[in-house]
Amino acid sequence: MESIKVNVKDVLQAVTAEQIEALNPEASEAIDKLHKGTGAGSDFLGWVSLPSETTDALIADINAVAADLAARCEYVVAIGIGGSYLGAKAVIEALSDSFASLRDKGDARRTKVLFAGQNIGEEYLNELQDLLKDKSFGIIVISKSGTTTEPAIAFRLLKEQLEAQVGKAEAAKRIVAITDAKRGALRQLATEEGYKTFVIADNVGGRFSVLTPVGLLPIAVAGFDIRKLIDGACRMEKATLDADSTNPCVLYATTRNALYRHGKKIEILVNYNPKLHFFGEWWKQLYGESEGKDGKGIFPAAVDNSTDLHSMGQWIQDGERIIFETVLSVEHMAKETIIPSDKDNLDGLNYLAGKHVDEVNKMAELGTRLAHVDGKVPNMRITIPALNEEYLGELIYFFEKSCGISGYLLGVNPFNQPGVEAYKRNMFALLAKPGYEAETAAIQKRL
Ligand code: PA5
Repeated sequence: MESIKVNVKDVLQAVTAEQIEALNPEASEAIDKLHKGTGAGSDFLGWVSLPSETTDALIADINAVAADLAARCEYVVAIGIGGSYLGAKAVIEALSDSFASLRDKGDARRTKVLFAGQNIGEEYLNELQDLLKDKSFGIIVISKSGTTTEPAIAFRLLKEQLEAQVGKAEAAKRIVAITDAKRGALRQLATEEGYKTFVIADNVGGRFSVLTPVGLLPIAVAGFDIRKLIDGACRMEKATLDADSTNPCVLYATTRNALYRHGKKIEILVNYNPKLHFFGEWWKQLYGESEGKDGKGIFPAAVDNSTDLHSMGQWIQDGERIIFETVLSVEHMAKETIIPSDKDNLDGLNYLAGKHVDEVNKMAELGTRLAHVDGKVPNMRITIPALNEEYLGELIYFFEKSCGISGYLLGVNPFNQPGVEAYKRNMFALLAKPGYEAETAAIQKRL
């Protein structure tokens, strides 16, 4: 079977193969720390063996709950933020018809999954509630801590609406909570209301949780095969056990760290497929929260090409030379579109007649790579055979494992996120949350 591949030949103008390989011993130590739990943040390593430990019983339970929700509801709103949102959103967008939400009947097999609680947009929530007012809907509410403000507000609004529309008893059958086994307001609420629940294990942090029920349930509700997703991740788990030269995570992690140590402070994840936009968002969270700390970290950015070649392309080609690119390239398309011939050829496009649109896209990708390498932007290339559940499972695990290795190479704890709390303290102080009286008084003086 094909697999994802990492090619680093186009970074060798900026760092040599020897400089990359010099990091192999550190990468080997990092893998050891991940497998033996001897590094910083070792309480959060549950994701390392998660694919191979996912039981058929869990998959069957998730699929049964997804089928029940899909049978009851035309729409299911997945409520969550950060790691409790981005993984499901990334996979569903990558696998879905680009216009699924606009099709009258949609794809009969698929329930429409909407998202809330990932922002505090008053108009967004108002419009969502308006959309749902005459629709049959259900809710998957996801929060590991069970106390995050954004999803809590969305859940309060939608729970009330659902109960008003279908009654408390039926609403309880349409609400599933995914949270900590014991702690948090959401756990208590779910127990009291009798909701079906799934547990987020203590040792899996939010941004590493897409292969737990956090990601798997919304993905299953959207009609995709979570067994295959886990199978793909399992394959990558097995392929990345050793720190030898065949381990793609070692190659990716050592290369990006070698570039960082040679002044390349920003990594841009580039895709040439609009379905991968949210994969870039998921990747940004994974690497941003894992590595940006202690005054260190490669800044993770993402662009959607060729769209962004007409906006960010100028900066990337000619701006400050502190960037490198990692291009995600999908080899085979699942659907074909051929450019037609036109007898008048007024647009001068007949030289492309008969070609697949993807052939043009691939030439845009190649032409851009050559131009950016000429412009001194080191380029890595990660090829994915096709966009399906198995390869996405591989890719997710590949980036997670690489992130763990890379964080240790950088010398940080990749599994905490102390900086995320700063804005929350200020927001609670500004909103005069009970328990924040001193902070409220202090912050008022600053205004
Ligand atoms: O990766 C993380 O830990 C965070 O991004 C969390 O997922 C995010 O803050 C949401 O937290 P919670 O699931 O507790 O509501």
